[in-house]
Amino acid sequence: MISNSNVIGLLYLATIVCFILALRFLSSPKHARLGNRVGGGGMLIAIGTTLALKGIGNWALIVSAGAIGAAVGVVGAKRVKMTAMPQMVALFNGVGGGAAALVALAEFHKLAPASGRIGSTEVVSIVLSALIGSISFAGSAIAFAKLQELIGGRPIVFPGQNIFNGLIVTGAAAFGIAAIAGVQGQWVIVALILLALTFGVMFVLPIGGADMPVVISLLNAFTGLAASATGFVLSNTVLIVSGMLVGASGTLLTLLMGKAMYRSITNVLFSAFGQVQAGTSAARVDDGRTFRATTPEDVAVQLSYARKVVIVPGYGLAVAQAQHDVRQLAELLESKGVEVLYAIHPVAGRMPGHMNVLLAEANVPYDQLKEMDEINSEFPQTDVALVIGANDVVNPAARSDPGSPIYGMPILDVDKAQSVVVMKRSMAPGFAGIDNELFLEQQTTMLFGNAKDSVVKLIAAVKSL
Ligand code: TAP
Repeated sequence: MISNSNVIGLLYLATIVCFILALRFLSSPKHARLGNRVGGGGMLIAIGTTLALKGIGNWALIVSAGAIGAAVGVVGAKRVKMTAMPQMVALFNGVGGGAAALVALAEFHKLAPASGRIGSTEVVSIVLSALIGSISFAGSAIAFAKLQELIGGRPIVFPGQNIFNGLIVTGAAAFGIAAIAGVQGQWVIVALILLALTFGVMFVLPIGGADMPVVISLLNAFTGLAASATGFVLSNTVLIVSGMLVGASGTLLTLLMGKAMYRSITNVLFSAFGQVQAGTSAARVDDGRTFRATTPEDVAVQLSYARKVVIVPGYGLAVAQAQHDVRQLAELLESKGVEVLYAIHPVAGRMPGHMNVLLAEANVPYDQLKEMDEINSEFPQTDVALVIGANDVVNPAARSDPGSPIYGMPILDVDKAQSVVVMKRSMAPGFAGIDNELFLEQQTTMLFGNAKDSVVKLIAAVKSL
């Protein structure tokens, strides 16, 4: 005889399998869409099971809240621009953390008067859920505001910041310990949440806008842990396991991004990167060399008579939304017998997989996208490296200048190509705020202008040859 709890257990197991498969599929652009669907399917099973079999009280409230949430999610996801994806993730992540904190608050309220004193497993879980969920909510809200430019993206710092932050987090932890020790008035958990919210704000304010994807990924891991703790409060296995999956994958992603930038996570969190470098001229190239500007017509000739062209996309390509035109240009060159490849740096752009997603959107074939390790050995045999809106990820200072803030970061070795064309609007630096010697090298020419306009001009020029 199969009991209700067996059915729930089996359906929750199916959900967990879906989530694990989803993560597997999401690891490659080829299967990422499938991964999204499988994950969504798993979530549907989890929600359906919980609502249908777990005895839910107020259906009207649940259905209307679900409908509002789903409408906001669908409209938001359909409307969001690719460049605004990080702040969308921040927002969704933040609400997850906020929900965990609210559940903790509600459960504390529910359990305290009934039992006089809440059991140790429940109270520890409630404290963790409230603490981590609130930090994640407030931190994500600030990350969203920075990326959306509601507040300045530059790091906001003041003297004694770390000591101040240390005091806040110690205060929050003290209230948590008090609750666990038996001081279980409602005010204890409210004070803990308020301090954790303040810490979330203060912890993200000093971090520069372009480091936000790393912060969001870390806060995502926090939300996973908070959800997992909530799972213990509610005795819900699917929440415990899926929270752990989010926690583990968020942590791994954070570490991978740090590694790809050759920066430790403590450097990302505490060095106010993007503030120190702004306006410094330490790395300014001042040896009398100057750059050479070129024209779409000249570049068109170079490209059309090349055997091999490697396109290097960066943040500027995403800003200009030039991906469709770039694909057209590549197809045009291929029709002339030119081999075209794309060099993908792991942190080109402003979020993990930014360039893959952008080029996939324009239907660039996956087999033309080459990861950094794969393409670097090919640059010496490349006739033209076409750098479109990329800067830091092709800066040779990362290899040669120990004083540079990006020293040690693995880069795309475009300077080893026979000829380099850099397409950007000016000589302005990229996110790291430092000059780029590549622009002054002998084999480099600069094609100034908005990336989309320049690519459109290039297409016309290639066609007219
Ligand atoms: P950046 O170094 O930021 O350079 C982008 C360049 O694009 C700028 O120099 C800018 O020059 C140009 N640009 C901007 N808008 C443009 C437009 N409309 N048309 C043409 N060019 C335009 O970008 P990157 O090389 O992709 O490197 C990414 C940076 O972000 C790295 O420093 C990386 O560490 C950091 N970061 C990335 C991530 C992830 S996960 N991707 C996470 C955190 C930090 P002009 O203003 O002269 O046009």
